[in-house]
Amino acid sequence: MTELTKEQLYRPGMEGVPACHSKICFINGVEGILEYRGYPIEDLCKHSTFEEVSYLLLFAKLPNSSELKTFEKDLKKARSLSTEVLSLITSLPKTGHPMVMLQSVISALGLFDTHVDLRDEKKNYQSIINVIAKTPTIIAAFDRYRQNLEPVAPNEDLSHAANFLYMLNDKRPTELETRIFDICLILHAEHSLNASTFSTRVTASTRNNPYVSCSSGVGTLYGPLHGGANERVLQMLEAIGKVEFVRPFVEEKIAKKEKIMGIGHRVYKTKDPRSFVLQDIARELFAKQTDNTLLDIALELEKITGEKLSAKGIYPNVDFFSGLVYRILGFETDLFTPIFAASRTSGWCAHWLEQMEDNKLFRPSQLYDGDRKLSYIPMSDR
Ligand code: ACO
Repeated sequence: MTELTKEQLYRPGMEGVPACHSKICFINGVEGILEYRGYPIEDLCKHSTFEEVSYLLLFAKLPNSSELKTFEKDLKKARSLSTEVLSLITSLPKTGHPMVMLQSVISALGLFDTHVDLRDEKKNYQSIINVIAKTPTIIAAFDRYRQNLEPVAPNEDLSHAANFLYMLNDKRPTELETRIFDICLILHAEHSLNASTFSTRVTASTRNNPYVSCSSGVGTLYGPLHGGANERVLQMLEAIGKVEFVRPFVEEKIAKKEKIMGIGHRVYKTKDPRSFVLQDIARELFAKQTDNTLLDIALELEKITGEKLSAKGIYPNVDFFSGLVYRILGFETDLFTPIFAASRTSGWCAHWLEQMEDNKLFRPSQLYDGDRKLSYIPMSDR
């Protein structure tokens, strides 16, 4: 068999190129199947919690009740932030995007953790717990600081989802709000080797701690082609304004060859299974609202883009309906992606652990297209 040349191996954006073995997440993009450690996402949304799903992702099994209790207790104990971290947050510009803040502060958590030692399993466990537990506290503290409000201390009586809402709003959420938010966290917790997880694994492969590795993940997730699409979906729906404007909007976007936010996916060539769950939640929430315009615009957009783009395998992705759900839950639009990051910390940490188990430094090659062996030109001759 003849070996493929580098040129033949090259795929722009590494599309479809396997970069690691993994046992964490299974996706079938043609049939629209998503499983965490073999468990279908629909079942996890129905029966599980973010804490249990995080345990499953990290330790490759559903916990028994005492394992879950210990894990939940460890997360609760780690939620609060030191005064140093809080003052770091309040030294940042209030007008900055919370994803940029989050990338810096997650990385800085490692500076304040004097126990980091990658050879020690217990210390790695604590670093991972810190990242997952403290990320919501960081986001909530920043959101309140920029509104000139005092941070709300975490409440150990509350679950991860309920406490996150409580720290954002200084109000205990209802059971329904908690359950919906918990499902959102479960849905966003993991998604195989997407750009941000790849970035996390690349950083981990240089033997970096979970703080620095997840900070890479946050930076990559921020971009509008990845996690940053969710806030742009809502801005787009608001800008369209009326159901009758959807068709001309879609036609103009297609004519200009511009991307419509919240649709299309590198892996799914059918509707993203997560968007079915979110669509149902959005419908349930909007049924209780007096103004359904945004949902109606979204449904019309799905219909028209379906007519025009489904032949290319372009369908709604996870970001299409999440913004609508988050809007009803009362989040500021620029918190959508940080909330995504908060749930994805458990997936990133699971990949961090897997990368450490069998580490090989990522170092792909490139096809060099530039000049060679030029003669240096003195400044006076340029
Ligand atoms: N709107 C209109 N057309 C689209 C869209 C879209 N959102 N997505 C893909 N297409 C079209 C492209 O124009 C292209 O058409 P062509 O073959 O006629 O040139 C074809 O579909 C393939 O598109 P690519 O950009 O090559 O596909 P790729 O796999 O690189 O892109 C991506 C995937 C980046 C997600 C893209 O669909 C996109 O930009 N979507 C909008 C942003 C978005 O919602 N991102 C969130 C993804 S989910 C997540 O990351 C959590």
